[in-house]
Amino acid sequence: MKINRDQFLEEGYVILPQVIPPQQLAGLRQAYEIMVERQKMIWARQRGPHDPPGGVWETSAQPRLNLGALADQIDAQTASAVEIWLHENMQAVSSQLLGVADAGVTEMMLMCNPVRDHGTGGHRGWHRDFYPPHAAPLQGYTDDILENGPRYVQWNLPLYDDSVLWVIPGSHIRRNTAEENAALIKDSHAPVPGAIQTHLAAGDGVAYILPILHWGSVYNAKMRRTIHGGFSEFTHYPALSYLEHLSPAAQATFTRWNQRSEQTLDQIEALLRAALNKDGAAYQAGLEKLHPGRGEKGARLSTIFLSKSAKRIHHLKSPDFDRLPAQEQGWATHIHPMTLQWGRPLAARFSVQEADALWARFKPVDDLLQAAEDQWTPGFQGEETRYYFEQAPAELSVASFLAGVCNE
Ligand SMILES: [Fe+2]
Repeated sequence: MKINRDQFLEEGYVILPQVIPPQQLAGLRQAYEIMVERQKMIWARQRGPHDPPGGVWETSAQPRLNLGALADQIDAQTASAVEIWLHENMQAVSSQLLGVADAGVTEMMLMCNPVRDHGTGGHRGWHRDFYPPHAAPLQGYTDDILENGPRYVQWNLPLYDDSVLWVIPGSHIRRNTAEENAALIKDSHAPVPGAIQTHLAAGDGVAYILPILHWGSVYNAKMRRTIHGGFSEFTHYPALSYLEHLSPAAQATFTRWNQRSEQTLDQIEALLRAALNKDGAAYQAGLEKLHPGRGEKGARLSTIFLSKSAKRIHHLKSPDFDRLPAQEQGWATHIHPMTLQWGRPLAARFSVQEADALWARFKPVDDLLQAAEDQWTPGFQGEETRYYFEQAPAELSVASFLAGVCNE
């Protein structure tokens, strides 16, 4: 498939025709419908006392399947639901778009229509797919993308015609404009100046660079079955029990990605230990190993992510962990390789004393990312916080971080 990477990098998205080969569409629809029926039974079983009989299927504005969590339902009938992710039109194209040798699948999901009309207010309005306190300020991402290209590419691949997604071209490499902020404050569930609606025929795909400003415009009862997820070099596969049902080539691919995932975890541990040991040269070498060739802005973004890792390891090792707010506990255990978060498997590699010292090393980074007062900017996930939404402080760099760590 021919792609225009320059245009993708500039606009932040690209629409690709017939990603699903037309002769595979009917079979793929069937495989996913089997998955949907199985998930519906799970939701019905899990419904609460006040829920309708179908549970989430009936209450959600966007019922969503996560194939990773449904590993035991991948069998001969449904293997194609996983294997489409490995098709060259997705996997090889994602590698090209990311500029890497072997992009790995991060998550495999399916977005479905709700059973009743939720209109334009049924879901989140315009947003960028992250919340700065748990990741990085927007500028951390945009500077990295401008310097090195994206680390992650997200996909929507509809099995039926789908015009739900809107994007603002170019917004993945800049802050919100004043005009956008005014429009978002006025109504975050309406078209914004400069936005475009994607119109995908069944089998077409749209690949986009987060943090692009985007909006799932309408959640009505029209048939929607849209494959959703992404690719990155940084991945993690908690359950690969479905491997036996996949083709030998697909098995080899997942096995290779899983091995790389273990290596990435080792590399993250080594980076954190370099900081712990106040070894600036080892830290720099570790960053180069983690993402060869990325420049200063990429290194800065990774250092911000690692400050979150250090904080979460500190939380997980704390005797007071169970008394932390539920949300903090959730984030501490969350595994999110794209932002170098590995939850308990990473924390298990450090002692309590090491976790304390590690947090002391990275706390100055965390302090720099916060203002004295609560902040809020439209177009992000989450509520008010002291963490900067957009701006990365000028004094934050890898050099300044290491100077602080090594001179402590
Ligand atoms: Fe989103």
